[in-house]
Amino acid sequence: MLAGKDLISIHDLSADEVHEIIDFAAELKTMQKAGVPHRILEGKTLGMIFEKSSTRTRVSFEVGIFQLGGTGLFLSNKDLQLGRGEPIKDTARVLSRYLDGIMIRTFGHDRIIELAKYADIPVINGLSDLLHPCQVLTDLLTIQEHKGKNFRALKMAYVGDGNNMTNSYLYGAAKVGMALSVATPANYKPDATVFENALTDAEETGANIEWCENPFDAVKDADIIATDTWASMGQEAEHDERKKIFAPYQVNKELLKHASKNVIVMHCLPAYRGEEITDEVFEDNAHVIFDEAENRLHTQKAIMALTMNQ
Ligand code: CP
Ligand code: NVA
Repeated sequence: MLAGKDLISIHDLSADEVHEIIDFAAELKTMQKAGVPHRILEGKTLGMIFEKSSTRTRVSFEVGIFQLGGTGLFLSNKDLQLGRGEPIKDTARVLSRYLDGIMIRTFGHDRIIELAKYADIPVINGLSDLLHPCQVLTDLLTIQEHKGKNFRALKMAYVGDGNNMTNSYLYGAAKVGMALSVATPANYKPDATVFENALTDAEETGANIEWCENPFDAVKDADIIATDTWASMGQEAEHDERKKIFAPYQVNKELLKHASKNVIVMHCLPAYRGEEITDEVFEDNAHVIFDEAENRLHTQKAIMALTMNQ
């Protein structure tokens, strides 16, 4: 179903494709842990363009393509001619002559759209200012492992900045039918178009998607609480101002008292303890958070195997 396609936004996927990725990721995880070979992309090469920093995305994609029998090429914009102004549409056509897939992490989402338009190989979004689909597909696998497959019976709350993670949670929850309450300050809401699209997708699955300003309202009866940094990559200059604005949105013990008794807390990492999450809440949920980090590997292997195997 996904062979030859790009993975740029969860909104572009059907609900079946979302479940196919999550279920295949779980299968690949089992195979890897059992030592069963799964060299689905033998001899294939993934180019990985990074215009922003990364620990998890870089390492998990590179290890992932290797475990699938292929090779990963780390392409920093500091080294590429792209960083000196070579147009993205030329880079896309050149790289398409050498590679079997491209992963890109960048600032403006339109750069990924442009790359995909001109590339004739699958393009995978490794994070843009607008979306982080690989992370949210990973989080859905992690939720499935910790809370079961019946997403429609679950409620998630996202508390903090309305950023690329929030936008992708909106798309992910809408596709699988999971209730999602997003709490952000009024001036830091998720992207308005994404919110509208998610509401439309949610009509198909019955997911209850809502925004509110009060974090205590959002976490009421939540089975899962997720948060993320208050200052994303590119917003470093706003960090001090954001720390003040977002202070009431910290995920701490007091907030957790208002959630379901068995609530789990998720964080895509990197985490800033004492800001969006307390050290205590982080460490109490470290087993979930590091499963989430590990699952980047399995989920992205599924994405690469499904899109690049053609
Ligand atoms: N969560 C995530 O994408 O981490 P990195 O920025 O380290 O890749
Ligand atoms: N919102 C964060 C996510 C990091 C993985 C950022 O864009 O920096």
